[in-house]
Amino acid sequence: MMAASHRLLLLLTVVAVGVMRRKPPVVAAGDAPPGKIAVVGAGIGGSSVAHFLQQHFGPQVQLDVYEKDTVGGRLATVTVNKQQYEIGGASIHSLNLHMQDFVKLLGLKHRRELAGKSAIFSGEQFALEETDWYLLNLFRLWWHYGMSFLRLQMWVEEVMEKFMRIYKYQAHGYAFSRLEELLHSLGGDTFVNMTQRSVAESLLEVGITQRFIDEVIVAILRASYGQSVPVPAFAGAMSLAGAQGNMWSVEGGNNLVCSGLLKLTKANIIEATVTAISLHNSEGKTFYQVHYEDEEGQGSSFYDIVVIAAPLHNNKSNISFQNFDPPIAEFPGTFHTTVTSVIHGYLNSSYFGFPDPKLFPFASILTTDAPVLFFSSMDNICPVNISSTFRRKQPQEAAIWRVHSQHPLEKQELKTLFRSYYSVQVTEWQAYPDYGSSKSLPPIVLHDNLYYLNSMEWAASSMEMAAVAAKNVALLAYNFWNRDLEKIDQKDLMHKVKTEL
Ligand SMILES: Cc1cc2nc3c(=O)[nH]c(=O)nc-3n(C[C@H](O)[C@H](O)[C@H](O)COP(=O)(O)OP(=O)(O)OC[C@H]3O[C@@H](n4cnc5c(N)ncnc54)[C@H](O)[C@@H]3O)c2cc1C
Ligand SMILES: *[C@@H]1O[C@H](CO)[C@@H](O)[C@H](O)[C@H]1NC(C)=O
Ligand SMILES: *[C@@H]1O[C@H](CO)[C@@H](O)[C@H](O)[C@H]1NC(C)=O
Ligand SMILES: *[C@@H]1O[C@H](CO)[C@@H](O)[C@H](O)[C@H]1NC(C)=O
Ligand SMILES: *[C@@H]1O[C@H](CO)[C@@H](O)[C@H](O)[C@H]1NC(C)=O
Ligand SMILES: *[C@@H]1O[C@H](CO)[C@@H](O)[C@H](O)[C@H]1NC(C)=O
Repeated sequence: MMAASHRLLLLLTVVAVGVMRRKPPVVAAGDAPPGKIAVVGAGIGGSSVAHFLQQHFGPQVQLDVYEKDTVGGRLATVTVNKQQYEIGGASIHSLNLHMQDFVKLLGLKHRRELAGKSAIFSGEQFALEETDWYLLNLFRLWWHYGMSFLRLQMWVEEVMEKFMRIYKYQAHGYAFSRLEELLHSLGGDTFVNMTQRSVAESLLEVGITQRFIDEVIVAILRASYGQSVPVPAFAGAMSLAGAQGNMWSVEGGNNLVCSGLLKLTKANIIEATVTAISLHNSEGKTFYQVHYEDEEGQGSSFYDIVVIAAPLHNNKSNISFQNFDPPIAEFPGTFHTTVTSVIHGYLNSSYFGFPDPKLFPFASILTTDAPVLFFSSMDNICPVNISSTFRRKQPQEAAIWRVHSQHPLEKQELKTLFRSYYSVQVTEWQAYPDYGSSKSLPPIVLHDNLYYLNSMEWAASSMEMAAVAAKNVALLAYNFWNRDLEKIDQKDLMHKVKTEL
C-alpha cells in the first residue's frame, strides 16, 4: 500500500505510459454467456471485479456479491464529531489508473490533500525533518545521503514505468493465469525475483547505502506495511512510489468507490458469510455450489463462475472447498495485524522534543525500527469531506490523529503521545500479508472457472493492486469462457501490443 502523505521523497517523478483504452469485445456469437457468477467479498477487489465482469460478459449475466460484514472491507471510515475519517486504505497514487477511472466513471471527486510536513522519529529525536523549503529539503537529503537519494528515485521510476505496462496489456484484453506470468510480462525475471527478495537487498545492489535504508526506507515501509525488513522489493517499490507526495483520496470516503461500482453493475448484494464452495459436474460441465450462512440460517446457490475476493489464509478463512480432487491445498502464510487508533486530543509535543506545543511543525510522523517505539506512524488527519474553509488545527489545539501500531495502545502509551484526549476509536485489522511468513505466490486459478483475486496481495497489497487483479481475473474468466487462449499468458506482449496498435 502507499504511505499516506509522506513527502520526504519529493522528487520521485514517474513517467506516465500512454494508455490505450478500448471497448471490451462483445461475446462471440455461439458462445452462450455464463448464467450466474458469484463474487465472495465486497471490498475494492470484489466490487471492481463485479464491474469488470459485467463490462466483459454483458448486463444479462446475474452477479451475486456475498459480503459478511460491510461493503468496502478494508476501506472504511469512523465518525468523530460528526465528521468521517479514513481508518483503512487511505491514499491513492496519481498514476493508479484504475482507481482514477472508477472515480471518473462514478462522478466522484478527488479530495485535495492539505499540505503538512513529515518527519522521521527515532524514539529520541527526529532523524529527518521536512521543511517549508523545497530546495532545502533536497539539500538535506543530498547532504545526508548523497547518491543514495538519486539512485532510489531512479530505481522506483524504473519499476513504476514497467509496472504501468499492465494497463496497456489489459486494455488489449490480455490476461495472466499466474502471478509469475503477469510479473514476468511486465519486468522479466527481475520482477519475479523482486517478490522473492527483500527491498533492502535490491536497494543495496543498486548502490543505496545501509544508512539510508535504516533511516529513511525503513520508516516508509513501517508506515505502509507495519513491517520493514521482510517486505519484498516489489511491494516496497510500490510503497516508495507513494512517498513522493502525489497522493489523493476520494471525497466522501474511498469506500464510495465500492458501493458506487456495485450500484452501477446492479449486482445483488447478499449479506451472508460464505462457508463452503463445492464442485459439481454434470454433462461434462463444471459448476459450483456456494454455501452460506445469514441471519435466517443456511442456504446455497449454483454458479458457473466464482471469484473469491477476500484473503484465503489461516485455514482458508473458514471457507471449505468440497469435492475437489485433488483437494485445494492450504495457502501458507499469515496476515499482519495493524491497529488503527483514531484519537481526538492534544498531542504531547514534549515527547517529541518540543516543550512548547505551538512550535510543533509536523502533521505526519514516521518511525525507525527503534525498539522503544510502540507505534509505526501517526498522522494528523483531515475529514473525508473538507469544505473550502477547512484548515488544519494549530498544533496546540485538539486535533484528530490516526496512529498505526502493531498492538492496541495501552493507556500509558496513549498518555505518552497525548497530553489529554476526548475520544479514542480502535480498529484491529488483518491488514496485509506478513511478508516474512511465506515466499510463495498463491495461485489465481483454483480450478476451472474458480478464481482467487487476493493472491495479488502477496506481490503487493493496495487498492490499485486489487483493481489490477480484478481486471485480470475478469479478463481471464472471459477469455477462458470463450476459449480465447491467445489472450492468456502470451509471451512478448511489449512487442505484440506495439504491432496491434
Ligand atoms: C490500516 C491500513 C492502511 C492501508 N493503507 C492503504 C493506502 O494508503 N493505500 C492503499 O492503496 N492501500 C492501503 N491499504 C491496503 C488496502 O486497504 C487493501 O489492499 C484493499 O482495501 C484490499 O481490498 P480487497 O477487496 O482485496 O479486500 P477486503 O477489503 O479485505 O475485502 C474483502 C471482503 O470480503 C469479505 N469477506 C471475507 N470473507 C468472507 C466470506 N467468507 N463470506 C462473505 N464475505 C467475506 C470481508 O468482510 C471484506 O469486506 C491499507 C490497509 C490497511 C488495513
Ligand atoms: C532471478 O533469480 C534466479 C534464482 O535465484 C536467478 O538464477 C536469476 O539470475 C535471477 N534473475 C534476475 C534477472 O535477477
Ligand atoms: C461528502 O462528499 C460526498 C462525495 O462528494 C457527498 O456525496 C456527501 O454529501 C458529502 N457529505 C457531506 C457531509 O458534505
Ligand atoms: C474461523 O472460525 C473460527 C471459529 O469460528 C474463528 O475463531 C476464526 O476467527 C475464523 N477465522 C477467520 C479468518 O475468519
Ligand atoms: C479448516 O476449516 C474447515 C472449515 O471451517 C474445517 O472443517 C477444518 O477442520 C479446519 N482445519 C484445520 C486444520 O483447522
Ligand atoms: C509527555 O511526554 C513527556 C516526555 O516524554 C513525559 O514526561 C510526560 O509524562 C508525557 N505525558 C504528559 C501528559 O505530559
